[in-house]
Amino acid sequence: MRKTLLAVVFGGLFVMTGSLTASAQTKPYAPEGPLTCLKCHNDQQQAPVLSSVHGVQGDSHSPFAQHGCESCHGPSPEHLSSRTAAPGVLFNGKFASPPDVQNQQCLNCHQAGLRMNWQGSQHANNDVACASCHTIHVRKDPILVKVSQPAKCFTCHTEQRSDSFKFSHHPIREGKVVCSDCHNPHGSPGPKLLKEVTVNETCYNCHAEKRGPLLWEHLPVRENCLNCHTPHGSNQARLLTERPSFLCQDCHANSGHQSAILSGAQLNSTKPGLPYKVFPPTGAAVTNFRAFARGCVNCHSQIHGSNNPSGAYFTR
Ligand code: HEC
Ligand code: HEC
Ligand code: HEC
Ligand code: HEC
Ligand code: HEC
Ligand code: HEC
Ligand code: HEC
Ligand code: HEC
Ligand code: HEC
Ligand code: HEC
Repeated sequence: MRKTLLAVVFGGLFVMTGSLTASAQTKPYAPEGPLTCLKCHNDQQQAPVLSSVHGVQGDSHSPFAQHGCESCHGPSPEHLSSRTAAPGVLFNGKFASPPDVQNQQCLNCHQAGLRMNWQGSQHANNDVACASCHTIHVRKDPILVKVSQPAKCFTCHTEQRSDSFKFSHHPIREGKVVCSDCHNPHGSPGPKLLKEVTVNETCYNCHAEKRGPLLWEHLPVRENCLNCHTPHGSNQARLLTERPSFLCQDCHANSGHQSAILSGAQLNSTKPGLPYKVFPPTGAAVTNFRAFARGCVNCHSQIHGSNNPSGAYFTR
């Protein structure tokens, strides 16, 4: 029994993929629409689709105002005449239709809007199906709900899951921020499926005060927030990629107090105008105070830029 079922399903799939576009147009839909299918499929597994947005008959765009189940599962005359033959399109399981065949069913109605850049996107190119993220036979699709969305993404993106446990992280686990606040998983003209065309534009959506324009700009901030921050999680405070003194020294290490920050040698400096002058020279290589706590940011507190007339060094 099992063997024949498999054989027939295989046969069906072969025919289906071979002539899908032709068959979708030429095969007849069930005479009584979804009622035909519901005669057998009215259990708790399939029926909830009727109380989801797709079940709204009053909306002329919805599947149930069109071909019902077959708007997604494709015309399925073989399945109706022989229960062992699969329906036109299968979304799950071992015999699932190829991802692009599945996705086309959904794109027939959902090509526009957020999906404008679906074709050629990272998910489309890697055979991720709409149904890998979306669940249809439920009242409310969990990926559209803030608290349940990340769990779905984490099933494939384990690195971001572990980032979310780090000391400093966007409040994703806390249900305040979701992946789709920053990403459009359907495709993007920008890098890394970001919602906006650049990293900074994405960040400004919520951290608007960082947008400027400012009297004194710190160039790396304007260029890319990720010069100093990591988006998903860090074991340094404030999602920083490194501790402030090291972080700053990646770029500011050529001269002056910033290059000697960890040596203590500068404590003896008498160069006028610099802050360490006020400390009595000890002659000893004591731990440099500029490495304490927030390091350089103890003084350069307006690190994202300043609007103060004397804020050229981001100290106020
Ligand atoms: C006469 C009863 C009957 C009718 C009518 C019927 N089905 Fe089925 N369908 C079945 C049975 C039996 C199975 C296989 C057993 C199972 O449910 O696991 C099945 C399986 C399926 C599956 C899953 C296949 C798989 O391999 O996982 C889908 C999808 C499906 N049917 C869709 C439809 C659609 C769409 C219609 C209407 C066009 C429809 N069915 C009409 C009885 C029916
Ligand atoms: C909006 C598109 C859509 C409509 C309409 C729809 N389905 Fe489905 N169906 C799916 C998707 C996607 C899955 C995969 C599981 C999920 O997302 O819940 C699925 C899964 C199934 C399954 C289980 C087999 C599997 O692949 O997991 C059956 C059986 C089924 N559908 C039957 C039906 C019947 C009967 C109807 C009409 C009452 C219907 N479907 C209407 C998209 C749809
Ligand atoms: C016959 C047209 C049609 C097909 C086919 C179709 N949908 Fe829809 N879908 C709609 C309509 C109409 C709505 C409700 C209005 C809207 O949000 O655009 C909707 C809404 C949705 C929503 C939002 C749900 C919510 O709760 O707000 C998701 C997600 C979705 N569809 C995914 C899918 C996926 C995945 C498929 C393929 C398995 C699919 N749709 C197939 C017409 C369709
Ligand atoms: C990688 C996961 C993922 C994949 C793959 C995916 N989606 Fe979505 N989809 C989401 C998320 C997350 C949202 C919620 C977006 C938001 O709130 O901004 C969403 C929202 C939607 C919506 C409702 C919002 C709207 O646009 O009106 C529709 C419809 C939809 N997706 C259709 C599709 C279709 C069709 C496909 C396949 C071509 C697809 N999705 C593939 C994750 C995905
Ligand atoms: C079924 C597995 C799967 C699910 C679920 C999934 N993804 Fe993906 N995602 C992939 C694959 C495969 C790629 C492409 C390979 C890669 O870059 O890791 C990818 C790529 C990405 C990228 C782009 C990476 C790059 O280097 O350009 C982002 C961003 C992303 N996914 C976010 C999400 C979000 C957000 C969700 C949940 C809404 C999600 N993904 C759900 C499998 C998945
Ligand atoms: C605060 C905004 C934000 C949130 C929330 C967010 N991301 Fe990202 N994500 C980004 C940025 C920015 C990048 C680009 C990183 C880069 O270029 O190094 C990125 C990159 C990625 C990548 C590609 C990784 C790589 O190193 O190439 C994946 C996958 C990803 N994100 C998945 C997710 C998932 C899954 C979630 C939800 C759990 C999520 N993101 C939440 C902003 C965010
Ligand atoms: C959807 C809104 C949203 C977006 C978009 C967003 N953030 Fe956030 N960000 C938040 C929230 C909420 C917090 C937590 C604030 C709190 O705890 O007081 C936060 C906190 C932070 C923190 C401080 C973390 C800490 O440990 O105190 C940094 C740094 C940060 N975000 C950087 C970024 C960067 C960089 C981007 C762009 C890649 C970005 N954010 C995009 C909402 C967002
Ligand atoms: C030159 C490195 C650098 C760049 C680039 C940078 N930041 Fe920061 N950011 C920091 C440092 C250092 C802190 C910690 C400040 C502190 O401890 O007072 C911080 C803290 C934050 C905080 C939490 C405290 C606050 O000020 O609200 C947010 C949010 C933030 N950054 C967002 C951003 C955004 C958005 C961008 C891009 C527009 C960005 N940062 C670019 C270095 C940087
Ligand atoms: C990615 C490289 C980079 C990082 C990281 C970075 N900066 Fe800068 N910083 C710059 C550049 C470029 C300028 C502009 C220099 C100029 O105009 O000559 C600048 C300017 C400054 C200035 C103003 C100096 C002047 O001569 O106008 C101060 C003060 C400063 N940075 C402090 C910091 C501190 C503190 C940190 C760590 C929190 C830091 N920077 C991290 C690249 C960086
Ligand atoms: C105790 C306070 C303090 C600490 C800590 C501090 N700075 Fe400064 N920094 C200043 C002041 C004040 C100026 C303005 C100097 C002047 O007027 O010449 C300045 C000037 C600068 C300048 C621009 C002038 C120059 O010498 O090129 C840079 C760049 C700079 N700091 C980087 C850093 C870095 C990087 C760190 C951490 C490794 C750091 N600072 C730690 C107070 C501090």
